[in-house]
Amino acid sequence: MLKMCGIVGYIGYRDSQPILLEGLKKLEYRGYDSAGVAVFTEHGLEIRKTVGRLSNLEARLREQPLRGTVGIGHTRWATHGKPSVANSHPHTDHTFKVSVVHNGIIENYLELKEELMLKGHRFQSETDTEVISHLIAAEYDGDIVRAVRKAVRKMRGAFAIAVLTEYEPDRLVAVRLASPLIIGVGEGEMFVASDIPAILEYTRDVYILNDGEMAAITRDGVELMTIEGNPIAKEKFHVDWDLMTAEKAGFEHFMLKEIHEQPRAYRDTMRGRIAADGRDVVFPDLGLTPERLREIRRVHIVACGTALHAGMVGKHVIERLTRIPTETDYASEYRYRSPIITPDTLVIVVSQSGETADTLAALREAKRQGARVLAITNVIGSSVAREADDVIITQAGPEIAVASTKAYTTQLIAFYLLGLYWAKALGTLPDEEIARTLAAMQALPEQAERILAQGDDIKALAESIARHQSLFFIGRGLDFAVALEGSLKLKEISYIHSEAYAAGELKHGTLALIEEGVPVIALMTQEELYEKTLSNVKEAKARGARVIGIVSEGLDAEAAKSVDRMFVVPRTLPLLAPALSVVPLQLIAYYAAVTLGHDVDKPRNLAKSVTVE
Ligand code: M6R
Repeated sequence: MLKMCGIVGYIGYRDSQPILLEGLKKLEYRGYDSAGVAVFTEHGLEIRKTVGRLSNLEARLREQPLRGTVGIGHTRWATHGKPSVANSHPHTDHTFKVSVVHNGIIENYLELKEELMLKGHRFQSETDTEVISHLIAAEYDGDIVRAVRKAVRKMRGAFAIAVLTEYEPDRLVAVRLASPLIIGVGEGEMFVASDIPAILEYTRDVYILNDGEMAAITRDGVELMTIEGNPIAKEKFHVDWDLMTAEKAGFEHFMLKEIHEQPRAYRDTMRGRIAADGRDVVFPDLGLTPERLREIRRVHIVACGTALHAGMVGKHVIERLTRIPTETDYASEYRYRSPIITPDTLVIVVSQSGETADTLAALREAKRQGARVLAITNVIGSSVAREADDVIITQAGPEIAVASTKAYTTQLIAFYLLGLYWAKALGTLPDEEIARTLAAMQALPEQAERILAQGDDIKALAESIARHQSLFFIGRGLDFAVALEGSLKLKEISYIHSEAYAAGELKHGTLALIEEGVPVIALMTQEELYEKTLSNVKEAKARGARVIGIVSEGLDAEAAKSVDRMFVVPRTLPLLAPALSVVPLQLIAYYAAVTLGHDVDKPRNLAKSVTVE
């Protein structure tokens, strides 16, 4: 059973159950097909587990609460096999002494399980996690930290674990090997979590564990060490987000809130990166200096899903502004296609979470082959941020909805800034053009606000497509890149089948699917390609398509003659249009999903952070 999950742990002076539940709620986006907690109570180690959403666990704990000041909890998302109570975490050994929550994969668990079974261990679940608890119990000889260390040395894979044992209920042990884990530090209480929001209500001071590090945690402190047992000194990281940032702030869904946060996120991502006279980009702490940029001869942009779609816009931006050949790749494909990576290749990995397994693996492969790696990510301290040579942090703030919105648009802003900075270094764009583009970028937040103010019009468009089985998004150039994102967004939350096509490609086969009433969303923001797209619109219309145009101001009068309905986005430079034209597409997806009554923030089969390959 593979998993990608949320972990939380508490040891202190308060009742642990509500803290664990609150923490799990903040992590539910990491997985939500089953959940459980283990608490050390007056009866010893006690566990409650339920299948389904966290509310089921809450209900169970209301009926049968667990009282105790130390506990661990878990919310799970399975990629194989059925979610079941037996497969849910925490798992224990057969003597019920050692409980474990786990995120990741133990690759050699079957081998380990067989060895343990020969020694008389009996197993209840199909999971690899259960093997960990047995292994630790088998190694226990009076010191839980030593037992965990010995067990971990036998395990192969990528994981984060938290361990609570009845033998030593005044300590928790946490280990990180390639799956995120942090330790929160309070007064007389300590926390473990796979992500910061889980504990933000209680403390802002955290230790971020690196791969191969572990922590022995008591109420009063934490001992940090490598899994070999060597002590390590580490600086605490102070988190300066407020919790409200991670909550819905009055919106019906996180996704809607996050769509509305985009103007703020654009501003934050530009803040401090544009010179006071507005004529240059400044990256005060980017190791990728103009001298280094001048050595780059090719670029690979590697990412998954929405982040890859941002990378596709990034390709246009870099090639247009710097003329450096740029390729984009699915991270899951990159490693296996034997990419041509030379020392003058810059690999740009894009990842909201900074924890996506495929992206991380591509990053490592690129580094192994000698490339310099730049990460564009939203999470400071994430694996991608720590392992890349250079990092541009997008300032989107925590993104909770599974469907990525503000992360995508801030990734676009990061590409624009990078492209201009690079163009300046190479002299490929006149200074006046750089200043003009920066001025246009600074107008984007206000222009996005104008789009958001027309939410009702977009809602009406969404309602008009929501009952259709299938639809198409078309566009050319940058519009095609945005069409891909619009289509993914719609599929992921409304479950309506849609495809994005390069507008000129439609007639090479897919046009056969166009029949009376099929909606086609046509993006037309690029002046030079506009006439061409319009002819493709006419081809579709001639076959009965109902065309909705997403059109830039200035091109709308002509488009109005050919489309059935239209949404006009404010005029900007063609290169910047994706940062605006995607906004109505995000809202169309959102309102279509709401119309159909879907769980917008937690779409079926998906999880926020995909930490398995
Ligand atoms: O955290 P990342 O940006 O690396 O995630 C990559 C994709 O899993 C992600 O963008 C996914 O496609 C989103 N759910 C799309 O909305």
